[in-house]
Amino acid sequence: MPATGDIRVRQVTEPEADRLMTFLLEHYYREEPLTAGTSPPEPTADDKEFLLSNIPYGTCFLAEEDQGNGSRIVGAVVAGPKDAGGPELMRREAALHAGSKWGRILDVLSAVETGSDVCRRFNVPSSLHVHALGVNRELRGKALGSRLMEAVAQEAREQGHPIVSVDCTSVYSARLMQRLNYELVHTLRYADHLDASGQQVVTPPPPHESVQTFVLRL
Ligand code: ACO
Repeated sequence: MPATGDIRVRQVTEPEADRLMTFLLEHYYREEPLTAGTSPPEPTADDKEFLLSNIPYGTCFLAEEDQGNGSRIVGAVVAGPKDAGGPELMRREAALHAGSKWGRILDVLSAVETGSDVCRRFNVPSSLHVHALGVNRELRGKALGSRLMEAVAQEAREQGHPIVSVDCTSVYSARLMQRLNYELVHTLRYADHLDASGQQVVTPPPPHESVQTFVLRL
C-alpha cells in the first residue's frame, strides 16, 4: 500500500493485539458514542475481546507513523465478516449480556442489525463489516479514516465479500462514509431506542444523534 508522508496503512498482525488495544482505548473508546453513552465509561472485557477476535481474519488495519527510531499507531480500523445470520446472532448475544454495559451496547447494535439486515437487503452471502474506526485526535481531518476504509474495501474485494458495511455511531464517521460514496441504508435514532421501562438505552453526548448504517457495493 502506498505511503503518504510518514504514515503508512498496513494489516494488523496477531502479536500486535495489545498495541492495537492500547491505541483504541486512548483514541477510539473514549469518544465512541455507544461507549461514551453508557456507564461506566470504560469498555468491558467482552467488548475488547470481541474487537481483537477480528484480527485473525486479516481484515484489521492500522495507520502507523514512522518516528525515526520507532513508530506509533495513529489510526486503526477493525472489521470482520458477517452473513445473513447476523441479526439472529446479535439478538442472542444481546440477550446473553443483558444488564451489563456491553449488553446495552449490543441491544442497540442488535436493533440496528435487525433493521439494516444488509446481507438480505443486498441479497449477498456476506459482508465485511466495520466494527471500529479511530484516528488519533491530533491527526484527524488528514484522510487517515479514508485510507483505513479504503484498505478494508480492498481486502473485502480480495476475500470475495460483495459489500462493506458499517454502523456509524458518530456523526463524524457518518460524514466520512458519505464522502466515500457509501449508501445510507438505515438510521436508528438514540432518542427512539428505549428499554422496557421507557428509558433511553444509550445516551451519547451531542452532536451524536443516531446510528447510521452505510454500505459500499464492491
Ligand atoms: N471530533 C471533532 N472533530 C472531528 C472529529 C471528532 N471526533 N472527527 C473528525 N473531526 C473533524 C476533523 O478534525 C476534520 O476537521 P477539518 O475539516 O476542520 O480539518 C473534519 O472533522 C473531517 O474529518 P475526517 O477526515 O472525516 O475525520 P477522520 O477520518 O480524521 O476521523 C473518525 C474520523 C475516525 C471517526 C474520528 O472522529 C474518531 O476517531 N472518532 C473517535 C472514535 C469514533 O467515534 N469512531 C467512529 C465510531 S463508528 C465506528 O467505529 C464504525
